[in-house]
This record gives sequence, structure tokens and C-alpha cells, in this order.
Amino acid sequence: MTALAALVVGIAIVALAHCSIVAGTAPPPPKGPVTYVFGDSMSEVGNNNYFQLSLAKANYPWYGIDYPKGVATGRFTNGRTIGDYMDAKFGIPSPPPFLSLSMADDDDFLTGVNFASGGAGILNETGVYFVEYFSFDQQISCFESVKKAMIAKIGKEAAEETVNAAMFQIGLGSNDYINNFLQPFMADGTTYTHDQFIRLLVATLDRQLKRLYGLGARKVAFNGLPPLGCIPAQRVKSATGECLEHVNSYAVQFNAAAKKLLDGMNARLPGAQMGLADCYSVVMELIQHPQKHGFTTSDTSCCGVDTKVGGLCLPDSTPCRDRKAYVFWDAYHTSDAANRVIADRLWDDMTSASAGAPAPRASAPGPAAAPGPSPPPA
Ligand SMILES: *[C@@H]1O[C@H](CO)[C@@H](O)[C@H](O)[C@H]1NC(C)=O
Repeated sequence: MTALAALVVGIAIVALAHCSIVAGTAPPPPKGPVTYVFGDSMSEVGNNNYFQLSLAKANYPWYGIDYPKGVATGRFTNGRTIGDYMDAKFGIPSPPPFLSLSMADDDDFLTGVNFASGGAGILNETGVYFVEYFSFDQQISCFESVKKAMIAKIGKEAAEETVNAAMFQIGLGSNDYINNFLQPFMADGTTYTHDQFIRLLVATLDRQLKRLYGLGARKVAFNGLPPLGCIPAQRVKSATGECLEHVNSYAVQFNAAAKKLLDGMNARLPGAQMGLADCYSVVMELIQHPQKHGFTTSDTSCCGVDTKVGGLCLPDSTPCRDRKAYVFWDAYHTSDAANRVIADRLWDDMTSASAGAPAPRASAPGPAAAPGPSPPPA
């Protein structure tokens, strides 16, 4: 079993144990792991709605059309995110967006918080043209303020224990490619070779993960990049609509470097259990064999916005008739139906690993990292 599968399964077993204990006695609500989510638009549940000037928002129809009550919440998909589906398996509600919480007045922040923000990357300069959003460094600062509020509320010892036992889900890196390195008008793509760029990403991530560790994070599931060259917005750059192989190879190289970084952390930092979720294989399987998983189409978006500036499913778009048949909702983000299957596959890998069966791949729960929208018109 990989370090990641072990930590995730450990958390799942604790969650299940809570459920079985409450089943026979008084009915307090089932209690699962406290979860902190850091990420980009694939993981966002509504922080950017609070930014007046943000250009990375999804709080309008057609977003949310398949979400409970059909409301747009700020999630960048037609229904639920992969993280929403994973949290349901853990038996916990999806943690609320950080900016929806009032830490002075409510206790919601004690059971988990989502800091994810569309447009965010590992690097500060990634996503700058979205104007307002939380970069990863800022998301970590938000977590720092949550921890301070927690100490004030439940005391230092209980706060440290909670944070040490919590699950940290991190899904970042896609925007560092899609909305930075691969954009001809951003400096990084011309300043650095790809090898240099990976070194910059990994050195930055190293500092960020150490900062989180310093704040008490021990169990970290870092989502590897999906095959970015196969998202509709990248495919349209090829004359034949094929996946861009060089972009996919960037994702593979980044994932290998991230895995090495996490392994190094586990070796050097006492108590660290950090693992890479292999979202690449899971998403690639859906893209290459959509029919096997109940889909008809994986090479274009349900909303038909592959070549639109921004690639989002704006209110004037016309979504496909069968929204369950498409792997991609808009030019960047997977559909509700795909997110459900991705979460199922990640969960199956985890549970088969815990049964002692050979794990086909290292994987873990949590949102697949994926890009935020493209730049607005210049
Ligand atoms: C990125 O921004 C944060 C503040 O959000 C700052 O602390 C950090 O030093 C910046 N990193 C770089 C490399 O400039």
C-alpha cells in the first residue's frame, strides 16, 4: 500500500468507526475526518463569488444546473466536484468556502474549510489576469488565520491535535501550465525552459508544503495533474483535434517531480504522510475509453465552448442535451457525471489497496487538479 493509500484508508476507517458507534446509541451526526481543501477551479466551492473583481467565477447559469436545487454555487461544473463526491464517501459534508465563514460567530470552521479559488496556481504570478483570487500562498495564510481562530475557540492542544489528524487535500499546478507557462503572453514560458520551470514549481511547492507542515499539517493528499493536453481547450490547438502530447508529457514530468518531493518530505519530516493522487491515469482512462464508463464523448465540451475565449459555459451557451454523456462540461472542467466516476475510481483504488490487493496505481481522494478558465479578452 502506498503511504497515501495508508493514510487515506486510516482516515476512512476512523470515519466508519464513528458511524458504527453512533448507529447503536443516541444519534449524534456521523463525524468524519476534518478536511482542509486547497486548490483551483476544480476544487472551488464558491470563494471567488466574494471577490467583486474576480474574472474567474462560475456563479451563473448553466453552472449548477445538476447541483441540488439546480443552483450555481461557484463550482466550475454542472453539478458536484470530485471533492464533493469523495466527501460523501467519507460521510462528511463538503467543507464550506473560507470566505462564507464568520470565524467569530460560527463553529463551522472547526469541521473543515475549503480555501480553493479558481485561477490559483503554485506560483504567485499564475492567474494574475483573473485580478482577484487566492493564490496558494494566500490560501495557506487563510488557513493560518483559521488555525488562530481555532486555538482561541478550543485551546492550543485540541487545535494542534485536530490539525495533525486532519486531511489536507491539495489540487494545484494546472493553472501554472494552462494560465501561465503555456500562454505566449506570460513571461514564464519564455524566461524558462520546461526543466527550469519544473524546478521553480517544485522549489515553490517545497516551501509551501513545509509552511503547512509547520502549521500542523501531516496528512496531505496532493492531486497529480490530469492529462492537460487532452482538455478541449488544448485539443483545439492541434490541427486534428488530438491531445497535445508535449503538454501531457509536461504533466507526467511534473507528477514525477512532485512525487519525489513528497517522498522526500515523508523521509525528512517526522510524522509526515504525504502522497500523490494519480489523477492522470484515472482521467486518461475516461478520455480514452468513454464508452466503458457510460459516456459517449470525451473530446469536446458539453457546452460547445472549446474555442470560446475563456472557455466557460456562459449563459448564452447551449449545453448538450444529455449532460451525462460528456466527460467535459466546459473547455476546461469535467462534468458532474465524470466527477462521480473519477471519485468512484479513486475510492476503489484506495479500498482495494487497504484489502491487501495489489494496487493498480497510487491514488487518493480529492479533486483532480484542473485548470481555471482562460484569460479574458485582452
Ligand atoms: C508570493 O506572495 C506571498 C504573499 O501572498 C509572499 O509571501 C511570497 O514571498 C511571494 N513569493 C514570491 C516568490 O514572490
